[in-house]
Amino acid sequence: MPDLANLIGEDLNERLAPSAGLARGLPRAAYLSPEVLDLEQARWLSPSWLFVGLGHEIPNPGDLAPVPNLRIFLARGEDGRICAFHNVCRHRGHELLTGAKRGCRHIVCPYHGWRYGLDGGLKSISSFAGKAGEIPPDFELASHGLKTVRCETWHDWVFVNLDGTGPPLADHLKPLAQHLTDVDLASLQHFHSLEHGEVRANWKLVMENSLEPYHTPFVHAQTGAGIPLEDHHMILEDRLLGCGIDVGGGPADRASGDGISVDSRFFVVPPLFVFVFYDRRIVIVHRNLPDGERPDRTWRSIHLYSLGGEPLDAAEIEDWKRLEYEIHVEEDGPVYESLQRNKLSPVTEDGGLLSPAWEGAVQAFYRQWAAALGAF
Ligand code: FES
Repeated sequence: MPDLANLIGEDLNERLAPSAGLARGLPRAAYLSPEVLDLEQARWLSPSWLFVGLGHEIPNPGDLAPVPNLRIFLARGEDGRICAFHNVCRHRGHELLTGAKRGCRHIVCPYHGWRYGLDGGLKSISSFAGKAGEIPPDFELASHGLKTVRCETWHDWVFVNLDGTGPPLADHLKPLAQHLTDVDLASLQHFHSLEHGEVRANWKLVMENSLEPYHTPFVHAQTGAGIPLEDHHMILEDRLLGCGIDVGGGPADRASGDGISVDSRFFVVPPLFVFVFYDRRIVIVHRNLPDGERPDRTWRSIHLYSLGGEPLDAAEIEDWKRLEYEIHVEEDGPVYESLQRNKLSPVTEDGGLLSPAWEGAVQAFYRQWAAALGAF
């Protein structure tokens, strides 16, 4: 696998933390090159924890859910635990699952009928040896179970560590959890999932948008309820980035037809987990899944929860559903795709400029990306 210096061809340290002048963004290859995507997969995404699914979507043993873009699926086992498996039959590699299923006792390959248990163990191989139930000599079912993927959960959120080398999930999320010690996450109630689906943009463009508030007065003029940029502050910790708003509003200032005007935090645990906290009452998590082959595609969904205490009424739920659709699909969606299209222009090779006031978290994200990929 080529190293990043060969693919990018320049000193990223000078670009991302210049000795003089303003920091710049990444060169175009970071968004266009399949080789860079391979490097990201190998060195940052696979060794880290990726948020891939929701426990409540597979509530009972035998419930199964494929994960877009990653060629894996989640399964709730007989013991109630969630496991992750590669979505690849051990016979000749057919996909086992193309959609969610409920209450399965086995996972059966649709091609030749090999049958796996919920623990991934191979149970039967149809007529592989000639007659039903026969096992060829020197063939052991136990050696041909599904390939597992390391999997852990945090509240309703299922994470995988694809190459198995990451730290415990709790360590990965500790910088975020430290901000939430007085929040009763056990009381989370899911009330909506927004399936944005495939976005025609590199996954980093999606993440960058969650890391800076600079765009909000323009892109979210209405849905952001006109909150001045100056009311934001940046979150710049080692492994936790993002921004926050303190508007000092009371309970009357919530999601409404006039937009969202509440205290909020946009936390990003690089590389991919986005956790948004509104008014200490609403939690929203973003599931961003890079396409494994196409650098210009990302699969995306957004999940909304209320926290315990005062329940949301039906009108407020409808307001949140509508606002999240407007913010993420109608407003941010075209931004991602515009940025990606212009990565084809040579003008964007210099990466543009980063605001020293409002895009410091983007700069920090780039530096983490470059360090993970071995640039310095
Ligand atoms: S590929 Fe699955 S049974 Fe043949």
